[in-house]
Amino acid sequence: TNMPILAPSLLSANFAHFQEALTLVHQHQAPWLHFDVMDGQFVPAITFGSQVVASLRDKSETFFDVHLMTNTPERHFAAFAQAGANNITFHIEATHHAHALVQQIHTLGVKAGIALNPATPLSAIVELLPFVDLVLVMSVNPGAGGQSMIPSMLQKVKRLQQMKSHYNYPYHIQIDGGINESTIFAVKNAGIDVVVAGSAFFANPKLDLFLQRLRS
Ligand code: DX5
Ligand code: ZN
Repeated sequence: TNMPILAPSLLSANFAHFQEALTLVHQHQAPWLHFDVMDGQFVPAITFGSQVVASLRDKSETFFDVHLMTNTPERHFAAFAQAGANNITFHIEATHHAHALVQQIHTLGVKAGIALNPATPLSAIVELLPFVDLVLVMSVNPGAGGQSMIPSMLQKVKRLQQMKSHYNYPYHIQIDGGINESTIFAVKNAGIDVVVAGSAFFANPKLDLFLQRLRS
């Protein structure tokens, strides 16, 4: 299995030291940085806005991957594009107009991702697959880091991989939530392209073991 892209999630970093978090991302050559944006409505927690992306943009060449766990995600597209996001992912559960929203993100010159909560079936996004650059499979219920991966989500990853190769779709498949040194082998076997790691990267005494298994 080829090596998945690592996308550390800033959610699990020390919020008093984002610069140090970015330095750790660079030190371990993680090509992406995942920004978990929560609005306190779509999920109970509130994290941060586009200013955090903007504050780190000129300090890094890393691919900035913004995950909007927000209602009315389209209200935030321009601000995050302006701040320097390279990808903006919104939740299929947060809109009735996903195809139009993907077009809006592309018009801003940014890659577009669609995210699925654990209970949301793939059938909810099947018509969108030819148009998106990323499909984010939530392997925990969104709203917090440090949870355990829901194993059945790997079936979604496998089916997305099958559709991707069958129809030659362009999207990356990303998994988000509960990925660590214990779950990474099953995740790689399912055929994942991008792995989000919050606590496994920023709050893990076994970080080196995780990275070794990710990259083996
Ligand atoms: C949860 C976020 C995930 C989470 C991942 O709402 O979308 O990105 O922060 O954190 P870990 O890797 O600790 O499960
Ligand atoms: Zn996320």
